[in-house]
Amino acid sequence: MTLFRLDASIQTQGSASRALGDLIEKTWRESEIDAQVIRRNIGLEPLPSDAWALAVSASRTPEQDRTPDQKNAAGLAGTLVDELVDADAILLTVPLYNFGVSQHLKTWVDLIITDPRMSSQPLKDKHAVLAIVRGGAYGPGTPRDGWDHATAWILRILRDVWGLDVVVVEREFTLVGVNPALDSFADLAAEMHRDAEHLAVHHAQHLISKAA
Ligand SMILES: Cc1cc2nc3c(=O)[nH]c(=O)nc-3n(C[C@H](O)[C@H](O)[C@H](O)COP(=O)(O)O)c2cc1C
Repeated sequence: MTLFRLDASIQTQGSASRALGDLIEKTWRESEIDAQVIRRNIGLEPLPSDAWALAVSASRTPEQDRTPDQKNAAGLAGTLVDELVDADAILLTVPLYNFGVSQHLKTWVDLIITDPRMSSQPLKDKHAVLAIVRGGAYGPGTPRDGWDHATAWILRILRDVWGLDVVVVEREFTLVGVNPALDSFADLAAEMHRDAEHLAVHHAQHLISKAA
């Protein structure tokens, strides 16, 4: 069984999203002797920022007329789609940056959508976990309620455009302990951390049961 794991954090040390991903990956690996994990680290090894425009222009150009750059970009998009199509389950770990979607995740999604196979929803009903972390808190009634412009878009793409069956684990207040202005939220943040870890393991078991 193969899990495809994508990490969008730009850091490794102390990364809350990777830590949730690690829990899910560990549970996955322990589920079966030949459990495989294919990883793509878009936060630290970004996809080229010009690949998307080249892949779009490639898709409008007959194959024999494409430039080498267009061919490479279309090939890269194809590789990204292959990684998802070949997987039995999918895990995305994603931080909130500047109230929006990480540019690296956006490039990954945009490139994938250029692949002609995507119009027939080759990922339909595949199971996925989205682990999303935020430095602050965005719940109803908080001052930043409505400021997370990433999660809804990501789910729109994964669920409605690609047809994935997605469960979500969220961890907020990851900047508590980092930003002294948030010190008064230490207990709440610790509770959110624990809850997210429990849910991550639960979701991993869900992925395993669906992929088996
Ligand atoms: C450049 C940058 C921008 C960020 N913007 C936001 C933001 O808009 N809202 C928020 O809640 N947290 C923001 N954060 C905090 C991150 O979401 C938080 O630190 C998260 O834990 C990062 O993921 P990681 O721990 O997996 O690296 C930002 C962090 C960085 C480095």
